[in-house]
Amino acid sequence: MGNLKSQQLLLPLLPILLTIATLPTKTKASTNTNGVYLPCSDTKVQTSDGFTFGLAFSSRESFLFNLSQQLSPCDTHLALSSINSQLAVFRPKVDEISLLTINTSPFFPDSYGGSMVAFAGRRYAGRSIPAFVANSTFTVTSFTLVLEFKKGRLQNLYWKRDGCASYAGQSNFVCLNKQDCAIRTSDCKNRGGSVDCSLGIQLAFSGTDKHLAVLNSWYEVKNLRQYSLYGLYSNLRDSLTSQYNKFF
Ligand SMILES: *[C@@H]1O[C@H](CO)[C@@H](O)[C@H](O)[C@H]1NC(C)=O
Ligand SMILES: *[C@@H]1O[C@H](CO)[C@@H](O)[C@H](O)[C@H]1NC(C)=O
Repeated sequence: MGNLKSQQLLLPLLPILLTIATLPTKTKASTNTNGVYLPCSDTKVQTSDGFTFGLAFSSRESFLFNLSQQLSPCDTHLALSSINSQLAVFRPKVDEISLLTINTSPFFPDSYGGSMVAFAGRRYAGRSIPAFVANSTFTVTSFTLVLEFKKGRLQNLYWKRDGCASYAGQSNFVCLNKQDCAIRTSDCKNRGGSVDCSLGIQLAFSGTDKHLAVLNSWYEVKNLRQYSLYGLYSNLRDSLTSQYNKFF
C-alpha cells in the first residue's frame, strides 16, 4: 500500500464545534499512558488511556484509490487534502461510552461530499467503510461506531446499525437502505427547516487492551436502546435530543 513512511495527515481541520460527552459511570482512577495524539500514528492502548482517531468527510469515491481500493485517509495516495474534504479529530477514553457531536450549523456535510470514514493508525491503519451522512435530500444524524482492539492495537472500526428499529413508522424520518434513519435535509436548520441536524456519534469499544483486559463498553451499548444515551447528556438536550424527544 505504498510508502507508509511518507504518510501524513494533510486534511483541513473542521472549523466547527466538537464535543465529547462521556457516560458518567464506572469512575476509575484513570491515568493516560498513551502519548500518541495524532490519528495517523500507531499505538497500543490500555483501559483508561485516551485514544486519538479521525473522521474524514468527503465523497464516497474520494476514499477509493483507483476507483476500487479503499485506503485510509492517512494514505497520501488518496490526496484528500487537495479535494473537497474536512477532518475532525477526537480523543475519547478507551472503554468509556462516549457521544461525539459535530455541530452542523457552520459545517454542512453534504457540502463536503456527504460521506464519512473513521480511521486511525499508520502501519496498522484501520478505517471504517464510508458511511452516508447527507445529500441534498436526506441527512442521517445518528451513528454508532465500534472501535475494535486486539491486545491494545486497533483492528477495525465499524458502523453499527439497528435497521431503523428506533424510528419505525415516524413520518418525519425515512429509513434509507433499510439501515439508516434519515431526516429530510429540507427540514434541517439553515436548509429551510427547524430541526437541528447536528451529528451524534455514539462510540463503543470491543476486544482487548494491551494487558488483555476485555473492553466491555460495546456490550453496555448493545443493551441500551440505540438513542437512549442522548438523554443522559443534559448539555445536548436542546440540540440533539429535542428532535428525538418528540417521538418517544
Ligand atoms: C487501476 O485500475 C486499472 C483498471 O482496473 C488497472 O488496469 C490499473 O493497473 C490500476 N492501477 C493501479 C495503480 O492499481
Ligand atoms: C440522496 O441519497 C439517497 C440515499 O442514498 C438517494 O436515494 C437519493 O437519490 C440521493 N439524492 C440525491 C439528490 O443525490
